[in-house]
Amino acid sequence: MKISKNILVIGGCGYIGSHMVKCLLDAGHKVVVLDDLSTGFRDSLLGGEFIAGDFGNRAVLDDLFSRQPFDGVLHFASLIQVGESVIDPARYYSCNVAKTLTLIDTMKQHGIGNLIFSSTAAVFGEPEQVPIDEKHPRLPINPYGMTKHMVEIMLRDFDRAYGLRSVALRYFNAAGADPDARIGERHQPETHLIPLALQAVLGRRPALSVFGRDYPTPDGTCIRDYIHVDDLCDAHLLALEYLWNGGATIAFNLGNGAGFSVQQVLDAVMDVTGAPVPVQNAPKREGDPARLVADAALAKATLGWSPRYADLKTIVRHAWQWEQRRPH
Ligand code: UFG
Repeated sequence: MKISKNILVIGGCGYIGSHMVKCLLDAGHKVVVLDDLSTGFRDSLLGGEFIAGDFGNRAVLDDLFSRQPFDGVLHFASLIQVGESVIDPARYYSCNVAKTLTLIDTMKQHGIGNLIFSSTAAVFGEPEQVPIDEKHPRLPINPYGMTKHMVEIMLRDFDRAYGLRSVALRYFNAAGADPDARIGERHQPETHLIPLALQAVLGRRPALSVFGRDYPTPDGTCIRDYIHVDDLCDAHLLALEYLWNGGATIAFNLGNGAGFSVQQVLDAVMDVTGAPVPVQNAPKREGDPARLVADAALAKATLGWSPRYADLKTIVRHAWQWEQRRPH
């Protein structure tokens, strides 16, 4: 029988965080969510205790950590838009780095360990080769990727000096939704390919802009590794168990190891919805590498992780079910 643990989910009202709360509750754990609702939605929570507050506010954390012990902390709260991070890096370094430093320093002071940190493929910058494994150099090409890289370095040093053990999970392209369509992707503004394509099919947007058709890929559009949000959550749960079993601080790349082009995603959207996506060609988006595909062999071997929804059409189908019933 599995023992129920007390888990803090920071940013639990966001896209991946809310799916994580569902996954933890399904696994029988007790969940406390800390979220300031700056980008998340209160009604994305399927359960757990909700605390409204800023994870970068030491007084909020002191109060939370002195009231109850936590067996693990999952940290999803961050700003995620690459383009915005180039225009306003101060905001990104402040939220993603400075606030996270406050978080881990306060965890250290209260003797709380076992942190799972949401990192990104953007820490690799322009890939030297694909698939990308954990040995690939980390050379971020935008402030967003740099903020995540900096936190990874802080986590390494906090383990060395203070014994705060953590796992950084580098997501490639998180996609899909709860198979029962209770929750799903809900960014404001939305910038991600699959929800934008589905919204174009539903007529909620005039057209999907295809950012570049002359990349050095077979059909000229960018290739990404789409990974189902519930599969990402499974990896988080396994990463927590890894830390509870004494695992060392580490970073894992998480993807399916299969690349799909923008055009292939649009074809999958048409297969699933039965309607073509209205598209318009647009210039390349700055900082978009041609191809990002994960080598997730280390996570599979170390955590025993295996994605349940590796098929792109299943990912798109779940996103479609959600998109049709989501609140506006
Ligand atoms: N795309 C379009 N049109 C759009 C939106 C996206 O053509 O309207 C293309 C992009 O150019 C890219 C692909 O679709 O080739 C996927 O784009 P997303 O914005 O959905 O995702 P990204 O690959 O840009 O971003 C993901 C994560 C980021 C992370 C990044 C790493 O969402 O958090 O990978 O580079 F930083």
